[in-house]
Amino acid sequence: MTHQYDFLVIGSGIAGLSYATKLARHFESRQEAVSIAIITKVQADETNTKYAQGGIAAVWSKEDSFDKHIEDTVDAGDGLNKRDIVEIVVKEAPARIQELIDYGTRFDRHGEDYDLAREGGHSDHRILHFKDITGAEIERALLEEVQRHRSIQIFTHYYAVELITQHHLGETVLRYREDIKCFGAYVLNTQTGEVDKFLAKTTMLATGGIGNIYQSTTNPTIATGDGIAMAYRAKGICDNMEFIQFHPTSLYQPGKKPSFLISEAVRGFGGILKNADGSTFMEQYDPRLSLAPRDITARAIDSEMKRNGTDHVYLDVRDADYEKFLEHFPNITQHCLDLGIDIRTDMIPVVPAQHYLCGGVRVNEWGQTNIHFLYAAGECSCTGLHGANRLASNSLLEAVVFSHRAFLHTIEQLSQAVIPDDVPDWDDSGTTHPEEQVLVTEMTRELNSIMSNYVGIVRTNRRLRRAYERVELLYREHEQLYRESKVSVPICELRNMINVSYLVIKMAMSRRENIGLHYNLDNLK
Ligand code: FAD
Ligand code: SIN
Repeated sequence: MTHQYDFLVIGSGIAGLSYATKLARHFESRQEAVSIAIITKVQADETNTKYAQGGIAAVWSKEDSFDKHIEDTVDAGDGLNKRDIVEIVVKEAPARIQELIDYGTRFDRHGEDYDLAREGGHSDHRILHFKDITGAEIERALLEEVQRHRSIQIFTHYYAVELITQHHLGETVLRYREDIKCFGAYVLNTQTGEVDKFLAKTTMLATGGIGNIYQSTTNPTIATGDGIAMAYRAKGICDNMEFIQFHPTSLYQPGKKPSFLISEAVRGFGGILKNADGSTFMEQYDPRLSLAPRDITARAIDSEMKRNGTDHVYLDVRDADYEKFLEHFPNITQHCLDLGIDIRTDMIPVVPAQHYLCGGVRVNEWGQTNIHFLYAAGECSCTGLHGANRLASNSLLEAVVFSHRAFLHTIEQLSQAVIPDDVPDWDDSGTTHPEEQVLVTEMTRELNSIMSNYVGIVRTNRRLRRAYERVELLYREHEQLYRESKVSVPICELRNMINVSYLVIKMAMSRRENIGLHYNLDNLK
């Protein structure tokens, strides 16, 4: 089946929904006909966005300043940030957040003003939040806004398999060719098993993160790096893939996937990291103590666990004002209580878990990739904002700023877009339904183990080399399976996770200095 739209948006998190909404508003307000398709692999709200807890950063109080937010972002990013991009994002933040408010997003108030929280690496209170479920609130408001636009159609349970470029017209598309164009995507209707052709003048990749390449992650199961892998296969350029952010404080529950997050805002509220005997340790690692940036805090916890032979540390909030804590963190409090952890009397067991990818598909200041008519925004993109380590609550912010900028660029260059009329249908002749699903399950398990054991918080040359060789083997085995099989979500997701893991390992191997989230013991020698 062929679908033709003006705009194709892959992903229904904050980045995809913001972009689609802006396009719809723009054309509808001019009474110009427009058609926008959003495709999303499960139900619309199952996104990383929905699970965001802490909030969204912006300079909002009179005491704060753009300069301070800029410096905090660059300091957390260990100076690898693109300074011009940091300035753009920080300065455009208030306007973009005001738009979220205009769409109906609620943020907690303190009287007339917004209640601004503080998180690791921030020198001031600047996190707008809705309790400890900020992401769910933003997702709700954006989805409601999308429903108000007749020009947007959401396709839930549709899974993008491959971007369409000249390659599908029979041309040779080499990496770094400068005139590669995207014409849409081949998309699996997961309910019928058919692969449909979605043609569009421009395509937005808003597919989120990669958490599920690791054994433990705070990301929901949708985060399998699909957009990055599709762009890479279409000869898109990816950057900074070695900078994997491990959140210092996920709730310690061995085997539980995804890991439940204990927001950094809990430390901003006074929570203190401790060892089992109640002793503090952050003073040995950073003067900002429990509120140091994430790379430093996660490494400190990793080092304490290794030194003490334990598999977690604790977060102590027993001295916090319980009523106020409950008001700000009802979700975390209840979640702990359901597991028998009463935060008034018990310390919370926590452990670092994969949380965020700072790299992704390279985009310029307008969200453009190196492939014409293909944009990327949100976690799957690499704008240069985060450098070597993302500052807390700058991710939701980056997504709204860049989906706005991509929208502005899209409407500028729309008249140049052409959809060829000879794009072939998906060809799966000669493939069959694989009989042994166990192969995919086992390969996924193996990949998770390789990435967690060899490409984690602390790396060595030997571990990276071993990871490279193992992933190479998995790649070869899986490509054969892929070529023989009718596409299915598990097979495609594994293919994407293998591609993305390869990029992480390759870039980690070629980074010779320790910076931000990349820490290789051999670089110390
Ligand atoms: P997502 O919100 O992840 O959306 C991705 C979308 O792409 C989904 O709809 C998915 O179905 C779709 N998709 C993916 N692949 C395909 C495919 N092949 N075909 C079709 N659809 C596809 N950041 C902050 O700034 N502040 C916070 O407080 C914060 N807290 C967090 C807490 C948790 C537990 C987690 C996991 C993350 C948190 N983050 C936070 C990070 C932030 O939530 C994410 O980086 C951000 O929401 C990503 O938004 P996105 O729109 O790029 O992607
Ligand atoms: C958190 O609430 O700790 C997550 C914030 C973020 O990832 O930016």
